[in-house]
Amino acid sequence: MKSPARALEGCPASCERAQRGEKALECPARDYPPYAWVARSETKVALVQALMIALPPELYEQMLIGEKVCLGPMLLPDAPIIFGWQNTVSLSHLNGNYLPVSQRSFDEWFGAIGKDPSRVVFSIRKHGALQLLGYIQLTEIHPIFRSAFLGIVIADPANRGKGYGQEALNLCIGFSWTDLNLQRLSLTITGHNEPAMRAYKKVGFEVEGVLKRAVFTNGAYVDATVMGLLRSD
Ligand SMILES: CC(C)(COP(=O)(O)OP(=O)(O)OC[C@H]1O[C@@H](n2cnc3c(N)ncnc32)[C@H](O)[C@@H]1OP(=O)(O)O)[C@@H](O)C(=O)NCCC(=O)NCCS
Repeated sequence: MKSPARALEGCPASCERAQRGEKALECPARDYPPYAWVARSETKVALVQALMIALPPELYEQMLIGEKVCLGPMLLPDAPIIFGWQNTVSLSHLNGNYLPVSQRSFDEWFGAIGKDPSRVVFSIRKHGALQLLGYIQLTEIHPIFRSAFLGIVIADPANRGKGYGQEALNLCIGFSWTDLNLQRLSLTITGHNEPAMRAYKKVGFEVEGVLKRAVFTNGAYVDATVMGLLRSD
């Protein structure tokens, strides 16, 4: 039999489920911490607890919560997944990458997240689940020009075209203006990447120029399209 005192922890007194002795983390009426989107998920409670312990409280405030996705910190279990994505040939071609990413250089890149002030990397997770959909990053954050480069990956093709990318972009753009006080974002599309072009245009990016035959990837020269977005105020 479960202890009512333990089950009530974190739950409002009026909560019927708590009075039935159900665990606080399973309780929909619980007064959740900012990681509510995780706690409300159908994911196993043990995993949720592990994640909540893994995150220092100050990181909760870095969560950007949308309707479909949440942007948040990278966690250690994300590393092997992202290492796999960075070595997925079809994804590499979309970025113009032509070399495999070594474990050592990946570890350096991953290990420097949060330490290097010139970049911010967010995990993109499905709202209400731990599932990692991809990541979005701001690189070359310039302290004088107040500009940065933006890159995004929704890794599994089955998760594309569902609005996740668009929402992640909007959250990251808002963060760029409001939290980082940036005034310009840039990016480059390699070759003919219609989904990326559509997604970027949808959130306000404009084509600023085309660099002809700038990239050699997947056996051919392709153009690189430079896009930019300016803060409107
Ligand atoms: C580019 C990417 C981030 C877009 O994210 P997404 O979740 O697939 O896009 P969304 O579902 O939010 O769609 C945004 C817009 O793009 C359109 N779009 C999405 N997939 C499309 C496709 N395959 N063809 C044409 N348009 C597409 C959507 O229709 C939507 O516009 P709409 O609202 O007018 O319909 C994602 O496809 C991706 O990660 N691709 C692989 C990596 C990559 O190319 N990164 C960019 C490198 S520059």
